[in-house]
Amino acid sequence: MEKLKVGIIGCGAISGVHADAIMSSENAVLTAVADIDQDVCKEAAQRYGCTGYTDYYDMIRSEAIDAVHICTPHYLHVPMAIQALKAGKHVMVEKPIAIGVEEAGELIEVAKAAGKHLGVAFQNRYNNTSKQAKALLEKKALGEIKGIKGLVTWYRDEAYYKDSSWRGRHDTEGGGVLINQAIHTLDLMQWFGGEMLAIKGNIDTRMLDTVIEVEDTADATVYYDKGAVGIFYATNCFTTNSSVEIEIHCEKGMLTIKDGELTKVCDGKKEMVVDDHHDGKYKSYWGDSHKKLIESFYKGIITDDETYYVTGEQSICALEMIKGIYASAKTGKKYYF
Ligand SMILES: NC(=O)c1ccc[n+]([C@@H]2O[C@H](COP(=O)([O-])OP(=O)(O)OC[C@H]3O[C@@H](n4cnc5c(N)ncnc54)[C@H](O)[C@@H]3O)[C@@H](O)[C@H]2O)c1
Repeated sequence: MEKLKVGIIGCGAISGVHADAIMSSENAVLTAVADIDQDVCKEAAQRYGCTGYTDYYDMIRSEAIDAVHICTPHYLHVPMAIQALKAGKHVMVEKPIAIGVEEAGELIEVAKAAGKHLGVAFQNRYNNTSKQAKALLEKKALGEIKGIKGLVTWYRDEAYYKDSSWRGRHDTEGGGVLINQAIHTLDLMQWFGGEMLAIKGNIDTRMLDTVIEVEDTADATVYYDKGAVGIFYATNCFTTNSSVEIEIHCEKGMLTIKDGELTKVCDGKKEMVVDDHHDGKYKSYWGDSHKKLIESFYKGIITDDETYYVTGEQSICALEMIKGIYASAKTGKKYYF
């Protein structure tokens, strides 16, 4: 079968992870890149030996590409994805799918109307630890879930925000630690815990208030449909990027994901279930699973089966949780889904 021809829009920090995954794929070839910054565009095109475009629309129009990966600032995800879908391309969009739930919904409708695949980069669902935890929960190996704890304590300084001016602003990033850093953990909390009834949370800007207009710290309580409780805390104000920590307390024991390991405690016995073999090539807090996610997306395209990847619809739940945290922070009341 002929390989899928793929283009990348946005050649910044995360794009190299996508390029490496595309170039090592048996199912795809990196055909073109686009970046509005001429130097960045030229450098990326040279590095990957492909055509470079400073106008992404020219790339979509001129190149015979089958799929695009959107690795641009958050506010550009929806308009770029819509243009690409309307031009007949499949779309893999970096997280978040959109800044708001409503525009994410519009994008999903456009993908359906175009009959094209739309995947979202929640790569942490493909970590060995996440997949194994999900499998244990599905077969109720430890009984029903009673509570889920998600902690994200990272470090982002002024330089990080100055480096890319779209970060730290409501109109271009769409939020702070919630929509950018902690969205993966929110996604896992809902993937593990299932349907949610309501959420209640708070946001604050504790350290970076002179640098950013969005929150650098947030917390929430999640009320799951079946009575379980979720506890969530995220901050960009710690002094280092600690491992994300997820604890799932079940009737018969506890599952913990931390430091790239899944451990199980049952009947007083602690057991290491699986680890994530992080090879250190990319930042540890990005994880190593983009390649698996991207390969699954291509399998979904080739077999026309969306069960292989994280769909637009699936990615909306985390966005809805964020919307709920912002809403309840304003009203002081629970936000019902
Ligand atoms: N999945 C993950 O773990 C992960 C990790 C890091 C970043 N991301 C996501 O990846 C996306 C990009 O983040 P980043 O850190 O690489 O940002 P970045 O600022 O480093 O790069 C963005 C690039 O987009 C380019 N760009 C801006 N406007 C453009 C336009 N109109 N046309 C073409 N190119 C344009 C910029 O010139 C820049 O090179 C964001 O959605 C971010 O949340 C995801």
